[in-house]
Amino acid sequence: MVKEYQIIARNYDLAGRASSDIKRTLKSLELPWHFVKRVCAASYEAEINVVIHSVGGYATFELKDDQVILDFFDDGPGIENIDLAMMEGYSTASELDHANGFGAGMGLPNMKRSADVMEVTSDPLGTHIHLIFYRGPYEKS
Ligand SMILES: Nc1ncnc2c1ncn2[C@@H]1O[C@H](COP(=O)(O)OP(=O)(O)OP(=O)(O)O)[C@@H](O)[C@H]1O
Ligand SMILES: [Mg+2]
Repeated sequence: MVKEYQIIARNYDLAGRASSDIKRTLKSLELPWHFVKRVCAASYEAEINVVIHSVGGYATFELKDDQVILDFFDDGPGIENIDLAMMEGYSTASELDHANGFGAGMGLPNMKRSADVMEVTSDPLGTHIHLIFYRGPYEKS
């Protein structure tokens, strides 16, 4: 199964829509709750980052027998220093983002914790977050 979601920058009302649909899909398949939880936690953080830090983009969700693969692509302005951005508490979020409850600087570190594989590539033309969640023997608990 493959699904694709458009993610609109600055739209706080629609923010989280892709993650909600992913959650609904995984729940309807009766996958274990702890698995659903870690996929959704990461997908929500990645989606919100596209909403608040980028000019917009899209996500793809792929469900295979033994894994879920999430990809988030946006069209810039990119992450200047990925190592710094991955640190807990680092954030460039605006005052408005903070007012909306974002900007603790925990999104990327939480994604890293939740996913089995996380690859971040970024340049001024865009950021790509690639996440894999394994099920079965290699699964995180
Ligand atoms: N898609 C993106 N495009 C551009 N910059 C990004 C993107 N995602 C993350 N960043 C940069 O990395 C920083 C850290 O991201 P992270 O998700 O960890 O924290 P946050 O979004 O600032 O706060 P929180 O996720 O806790 O609400 C962001 O503040 C931003 O500078
Ligand atoms: Mg974030």
